[in-house]
Amino acid sequence: MRKQIVAGNWKMNTTPEQGVVLVKEILKNLGQSCTTVNYIVCPPFTHLSEVAKVTRGTAVQVGAQNCADEAKGAYTGEVSAEMIASIGAQYVILGHSERRQYYGETSAKLVKRMALTYANGLMPIYCVGETLEERENGKLWDVVKAQIEEVVFTLSDEQFRHLVVAYEPVWAIGTGKVATADQAQEMHAFIRKVLISKFGEAAQKTPILYGGSVKADNAAEIFAKEDVDGGLIGGASLKAEDFLAIGNGFN
Ligand code: 13P
Repeated sequence: MRKQIVAGNWKMNTTPEQGVVLVKEILKNLGQSCTTVNYIVCPPFTHLSEVAKVTRGTAVQVGAQNCADEAKGAYTGEVSAEMIASIGAQYVILGHSERRQYYGETSAKLVKRMALTYANGLMPIYCVGETLEERENGKLWDVVKAQIEEVVFTLSDEQFRHLVVAYEPVWAIGTGKVATADQAQEMHAFIRKVLISKFGEAAQKTPILYGGSVKADNAAEIFAKEDVDGGLIGGASLKAEDFLAIGNGFN
């Protein structure tokens, strides 16, 4: 049995005040689902600390949306993995397609971020996924395989045991165009096969999340697939009710 995870990537949304209201609303309505579903919220850096304080001792965990690729020093504007760990966060999203697309995220940088994430006791949620053009050209398999090989294959067996992978096809992010459950399963099974080729049976335990226009009304069908272990949610994670309803998609 693999961990079931519903993670909310708030992206560049909410003020600190709104973020605290949102997480309190999530905690208030968590109900029974948290006994099986692991909820994670990933707020912007400005309120990571405040949200981590509110969730301390609860079933909701906290993650950052990125971390610096250097440990410390003269890197204006950056936030280190050590800082993120020190405020009580557990996870870091790495390699999100928006960062690859808009901020020049490369595999070389992601290898460094990954190492610092583990060195500080944090767990990465590593994102992979193809663009529409890559899918239409039949390059999706090579693209996703390279994203895994170049970064995940640098991990030790021990580090690998704490990895979460998220498959987020770029064409499905924020577009309302969700991958079909079969498309998700096909890619998740492929990702698991690639992971097994390097890490063996340990990869049977790796949670692989689907991300891209997941909503309460499509989550159940996608989560029902064998190799889909939950979701990385953007837009629908900004309303407590919608976010928790997605967790009800596991049954
Ligand atoms: P949406 O759920 O808004 O499509 O975003 C998905 C995503 O990018 C999560 O990281």
